[in-house]
Amino acid sequence: MKSVLFTRFFILLPWILIVIIMLDVDTRRPATPITPRPYFSPYAVGRGGARLPLRRGGPAHGTEKRNQSRPQPQPEPQLPTIYAITPTYSRPVQKAELTRLANTFRQVAQLHWILVEDAAARSELVSRFLARAGLPSTHLHVPTPRRYKRPGLPRATEQRNAGLAWLRQRHQHQRAQPGVLFFADDDNTYSLELFQEMRTTRKVSVWPVGLVGGRRYERPLVENGKVVGWYTGWRADRPFAIDMAGFAVSLQVILSNPKAVFKRRGSQPGMQESDFLKQITTVEELEPKANNCTKVLVWHTRTEKVNLANEPKYHLDTVKIEV
Ligand code: UGA
Ligand code: MN
Repeated sequence: MKSVLFTRFFILLPWILIVIIMLDVDTRRPATPITPRPYFSPYAVGRGGARLPLRRGGPAHGTEKRNQSRPQPQPEPQLPTIYAITPTYSRPVQKAELTRLANTFRQVAQLHWILVEDAAARSELVSRFLARAGLPSTHLHVPTPRRYKRPGLPRATEQRNAGLAWLRQRHQHQRAQPGVLFFADDDNTYSLELFQEMRTTRKVSVWPVGLVGGRRYERPLVENGKVVGWYTGWRADRPFAIDMAGFAVSLQVILSNPKAVFKRRGSQPGMQESDFLKQITTVEELEPKANNCTKVLVWHTRTEKVNLANEPKYHLDTVKIEV
């Protein structure tokens, strides 16, 4: 009886082992990503930015997040990282704006989102939002002093400077890394092609911006591959008659001009771009993108103020909902 049992056991043993090995192999397969690869991606390498090691300890008010839940293909080693600095402030449409932005940025390879809240502390809404955004990101905050919160004064000066400071601090010991900086306001509309264009910025690149300056578009005028003037309907006397959404700067230029910042002192509305660009480049040096500045790939859209006329003064609903 015993020997029969033994024989059966040894006949079954290899099969049991095969089943165990097959089960093991199956569970090691990577999980399917939550979001499938977009049908159009400016680069075929996926959103690998999250894999880069990020150093902690930037300016006092910041956190960095990496989305580790999804296995991603590794990025090509030399694909420059695009750093998008977005100032943002609390208002009824904020989460809607950030959602549109994240949906775009998520489709761009090797993009690091620097979201800077105009606030005394990081808000729960934005923190929660970023944690689920599925993007490599850094969450900073700095409040605009009350005296500057007036109509007619430039917006987001302190927030863009906080983004610049973080970038400089993070790269002070790793100068070789290629990167491109872009100021991405939270209410504009960005095509994916725009990121493909700005990725090859050597120093400072420029392109047209739609729906700005009281015209359908503004654009740098280009002759023989050089910027020679500006097509604009508003303050053509500006040294760089361009919106914040119309240029990108290489990380090298940001690092080699450590004092270049947005200034409050003496700054006028619409002059922030010129005041900043003057510190780091000249018109002759600009690199025209978007087919010699003949294509609109970004729009200066503005979301209309929402009508909350029927919003009750006190909480009436039975549940509390984040909007
Ligand atoms: C135009 C330019 O496109 C902006 O780049 C420029 O900062 C702004 O003018 C200006 O006057 O300084 P506009 O559409 O008029 O843009 O400005 P907003 O979109 O209202 O603000 C620009 C950015 O600053 C947005 O990302 C917004 O969220 C942020 N912001 C605005 C703050 O962080 N705090 C504020 O109090 C207001
Ligand atoms: Mn705007």
